[in-house]
Amino acid sequence: MSNKVIARIPASTTNLGSGFDVLGLALQLYSSVELEETCSGVLIEIQGIGKESITDDENNLAYRAAKLVFEKTGKRLKGLKLTLTNGIPVERGLGGSGTAILGGLLAANYICGNPFSKNELLNFAFTLEGHPDNVSASLFGGLVVACVQNEKVHALKLTVPDELKVVLAIPEFQLQTQLAREALPKSVSLSDAIFNLSRGAFLVASIATGNLKHLGISMDDRLHQPYRKPLIPGIEDVFSAAMNAGALSVALSGAGPTVAAFCTEESIAISNNMQRAFAEHNIKSETKILNVDYEGAVVTSSCDKQVFDNLT
Ligand code: HSE
Repeated sequence: MSNKVIARIPASTTNLGSGFDVLGLALQLYSSVELEETCSGVLIEIQGIGKESITDDENNLAYRAAKLVFEKTGKRLKGLKLTLTNGIPVERGLGGSGTAILGGLLAANYICGNPFSKNELLNFAFTLEGHPDNVSASLFGGLVVACVQNEKVHALKLTVPDELKVVLAIPEFQLQTQLAREALPKSVSLSDAIFNLSRGAFLVASIATGNLKHLGISMDDRLHQPYRKPLIPGIEDVFSAAMNAGALSVALSGAGPTVAAFCTEESIAISNNMQRAFAEHNIKSETKILNVDYEGAVVTSSCDKQVFDNLT
């Protein structure tokens, strides 16, 4: 029997307003990458959400990631079948590309006998993705603080209070992260830097101490959201709609266009209000109410079941 390896990776919502390129929260919404050694050739199959917009040739991110691990270890396979099952809306600020990269890395690492640690894999993922926040949260689960020094990512995971829920309003249009980054200024004022630093630190302290009522001021941001809002019609009204329906706080998810509201119960009122606000600007949106994923990436194989936590 051939050995199929499956890596399941959670989506993430990053930045959380003030924590631009630093904070990421893993969500219970998943993609998976399955790898199987075959007799010859490379076959890449895409299933799930937005499969028509995900490349199935050798530029596929999951494939490139797996290939990187095989090259680094010198592992030679006769052939390979890779199946990416995507459960995450594409180019919506939910870390989908990071999940494909991690899936390829983790599944290939397993096939090679787990030569790389979690931190090494995180750094491969960072190199391929370009930003540390999504991949750190998707790898470790929970709320992750990522810090890059000398081109190396250091990531620390925080436990998040159980009652935290995330309500997503996912517009039907896509927004490429690169475009959303081009909208940002090249430099910012000292007062704006201090504004974000104080709120980002306060956000981490709010989560660490379980004081979720402070999330409101903690997510205020002057570094990226003000510049990105013009790319997302109706976003100010969607933010207000979430807060008016009782959200603790609201932020652009990653580079957008998804809006993430934070609350402590499954709030249909928040999701309905956000959807209505987008609709008033002629934008269709899908909503989801999600719990935080605490587990992070998990790898299993058809031969022996293994949880990724075996790795250091
Ligand atoms: N933090 C990135 C950005 C997105 O806002 O551009 C995710 O890596």
